[in-house]
Amino acid sequence: MTSAKKAVLSITGQSPVEFEVLSPTHGNDCIDIRTLGGKTGLFTYDSGFLSTASCKSHITFIDGDKGELLYRGYPIEQLAENCNFMEVAYLLRNGELPNAKQKMEFEDTIRYHTLVHDQLTRFYNGFRRDAHPMAVIIGVVGALSAFYHQSMDYSVRETRDVSFTNVIAKLPTIVAMAYKYNTGLPFMYPRNDLSYVENFMYMMFGVPCEEYKPNPVLVRALDTIFTLHADHEQNASTSTVRLAGSSGANPFACIAAGISCLWGPAHGGANEACLNMLEHIGDVSHVGEYIARAKDKNDSFKLMGFGHRVYKNFDPRAKLMRKVCGDVLTELGLENDRLFKLALALEKIALEDDYFIEKKLYPNVDFYSGIVQKAIGIPTSMFTCIFALARTVGWMAQWEEMLTDPEYKIGRPRQLYIGAAKRDVVPLEKR
Ligand code: SDX
Repeated sequence: MTSAKKAVLSITGQSPVEFEVLSPTHGNDCIDIRTLGGKTGLFTYDSGFLSTASCKSHITFIDGDKGELLYRGYPIEQLAENCNFMEVAYLLRNGELPNAKQKMEFEDTIRYHTLVHDQLTRFYNGFRRDAHPMAVIIGVVGALSAFYHQSMDYSVRETRDVSFTNVIAKLPTIVAMAYKYNTGLPFMYPRNDLSYVENFMYMMFGVPCEEYKPNPVLVRALDTIFTLHADHEQNASTSTVRLAGSSGANPFACIAAGISCLWGPAHGGANEACLNMLEHIGDVSHVGEYIARAKDKNDSFKLMGFGHRVYKNFDPRAKLMRKVCGDVLTELGLENDRLFKLALALEKIALEDDYFIEKKLYPNVDFYSGIVQKAIGIPTSMFTCIFALARTVGWMAQWEEMLTDPEYKIGRPRQLYIGAAKRDVVPLEKR
């Protein structure tokens, strides 16, 4: 990984200092500055980590300029077309796609661990019925630590296997229970005769008084949505999971931290915010007003579902999501869905606008995901829960990669202190 290239830093009053340049499989070379403080007494300042690699990773790669996303080297388009979410979950953790036997064994392992401890179901009663489901799942996922609290040695692969299985298997049950609690309908226990996504839809939309048969087109669409959201390099919530895990916190606590970070409207909360924005815009005739607001430096309004820290081209997931959206709306006879037509018009107008072209703002994964989830029958408040359910696979893979990295250390960034200079306390009577 070390390249022949060197970086020489010339600092006033100091002799030049040399650093190794690390070359990746794909992407930007990185200057290894871990010895910078020791060699020069200086730190780097990079608020928001615009130019900072926080770790080495084998899992996901994004080429923002090309609009390319690879999971373990496979293009997302090929995975979405040829695999299901369980195969992608296996790939993200293990680094290779499963063969038929491995896939069956993995799916069975997950299938037989979807039940949650029955006392966990009582946690929901502590929430108001109208509590935001993200608040509920943050609490319940964190509470899993109380049910699988046996002190776990995560340096042992088998222990990590148990945690990986528990989290991946139980998240759909926990998320579906949050929805049911919100509606006042009874919880639906998972069924072992259904696939991962069929089971989730059954727990979400099934009721005890009649049979529920998941629509295979909607199952495939939701499975693809899960695949598209599974992992995405070191985004804010994944970095949160890694940082929490670097202290040795248990995986349930780390995932709860990741869900908390994902909730923000600048991150995973954007799909909910995007649908709300489309509802506010209401009609194509109002699009110009909102585009103008998005461009106005004095207006904090941002076009939800547009822009990305890394993609400076189309988010490949947005293109796939647009297709999933079209398939679902056609299946449900909603081809003339008002919001979908509005989104298509908004996308066209924005992409032709100089501001968006100059700032390379393109639709991201969140732009269409809300419309397709709403069409499937998932309420807006549940969109980020669905995102969290899918991203849990990536979070767990990244958590394990961090723990097993030979260079792993507790994350402890430094700072640029610009506060008050050292001073003495003046006694109260003299202040
Ligand atoms: C996700 O990191 C990931 O990988 C995240 C994610 C994942 O899978 O984990 O991909 C999921 O979070 C997707 C992004 C969802 N968020 C949104 O759709 C919210 C709207 N987007 C913006 O908030 C913004 O684009 C961000 C937060 C996504 C990216 O922010 P950056 O990279 O910090 O970019 P920036 O805010 O510095 O923007 C650069 C310029 C600014 O203008 P100037 O200061 O240069 O004049 O572009 C402008 C911004 O004001 N801009 C927008 C805009 N996004 C950026 N202007 C209007 N509307 C927007 N949406």
